[in-house]
Amino acid sequence: MAAHGYSELNPSRRLLMGPGPSDAHPRVLRAMTTPLLGHLDPEFLELMEESKTLLRSAFGTANDLTIPISATGSAGMEAAFVNVVEPGDDVIVCVNGVFGQRMSDIVGRCGANLTRVEADWGATVAAEDVAAALKAVKNPKVVAIVHAETSTGVLQPLGDIAALARDHGALSLVDAVTSLAGAPVDVDATGIDVAYSGTQKCLSCPPGLSPITFSARALEVIQARKTKVQSWYLDMSMIARYWGEERVYHHTAPISMVYAFREALRLVDEEGLEARFERHRLHSAALAAGLEALGLGLGAEAGNRAPMLTLTSIPDGVDDGAVRRRLLSEFNLEIGGGLGVFAGKMWRIGLMGESCRRSSVLTCLDALETCLRDEGQSIGAGAGVSAALGYYADGA
Ligand SMILES: Cc1ncc(COP(=O)(O)O)c(C=O)c1O
Repeated sequence: MAAHGYSELNPSRRLLMGPGPSDAHPRVLRAMTTPLLGHLDPEFLELMEESKTLLRSAFGTANDLTIPISATGSAGMEAAFVNVVEPGDDVIVCVNGVFGQRMSDIVGRCGANLTRVEADWGATVAAEDVAAALKAVKNPKVVAIVHAETSTGVLQPLGDIAALARDHGALSLVDAVTSLAGAPVDVDATGIDVAYSGTQKCLSCPPGLSPITFSARALEVIQARKTKVQSWYLDMSMIARYWGEERVYHHTAPISMVYAFREALRLVDEEGLEARFERHRLHSAALAAGLEALGLGLGAEAGNRAPMLTLTSIPDGVDDGAVRRRLLSEFNLEIGGGLGVFAGKMWRIGLMGESCRRSSVLTCLDALETCLRDEGQSIGAGAGVSAALGYYADGA
């Protein structure tokens, strides 16, 4: 029987300023509506090759195995671990938020021996603490760390920790889900062995793929495995045969997502990485100036703030849920609530990829001011917007 009464799909035009997804460029959305090709069609294979080349430059790597996994960022995280970790391995995970915790969970599921290096939420992980853990662990195989912790808004320096891992014969494994194309990841220059990301943050592509890259050292570790990778779907040795020269079928590639991915990477390439990083820096600094002028505290310390995600405190007496519901319904604006220990205490405001522009900053500050005043906060009219405009005029 035919279904009745379902209206045509017509989603509201939101401004996506949460922790992801971010707005997608019309060119990326258009790419998804172009005709399908078969996943072994020579034309599609060419698009795959172009995507790999563009992705290498976004990651800053010459790594051969640099491809998108066919699922969201969590699959990238899982693929990174299950391919290089075997039962009984010693793995160090840096934990200063939700995604470090999630890494720890995966390491446990791999049957590895987990050592956690902890830091406060809102702080970076200290290289000295990682050095101490590396000394204490007998045979460290992997040191894992999140670059931009989406639960805290902290951007973690990676260079010292990657060098320490290498000095101890361990692989460095980095979560670049939120940072890629918004802040430098520089896989090769930093000496990172495995890095993964997601499409829906600073790449501004819909969620659905997880870019990943493995260094030659990481590939040696994979080749030397004694046990089979526990996940059939995420076994890189099989996936690499489809994305490499052999073109052996593993699973049907998500064709339209690959189109979108290639288009999003083309946009990154056209803008240039440096210009894109500077755009994220500029607008997040203007947003921070505006939020402070609204009387709101900032989550991470200056210097450690991820430019694509700002955490800001919710003033006492302000109803978190009511404000976010109103932002959505009245202003078509999505911001994120707090995660983990910051639930109900912090908002997470994203300026990622396409969403990262001056008009987003000003719209958000104006809308927040309206909601906060109606919640009883005393704020001078236009305080946030004028502080941001002041930053654009003077500070930029
Ligand atoms: C740092 C980080 N890692 C991993 C993930 C998981 O990605 P996904 O939700 O796309 O599976 C996220 C998602 O927000 C993230 O922010």
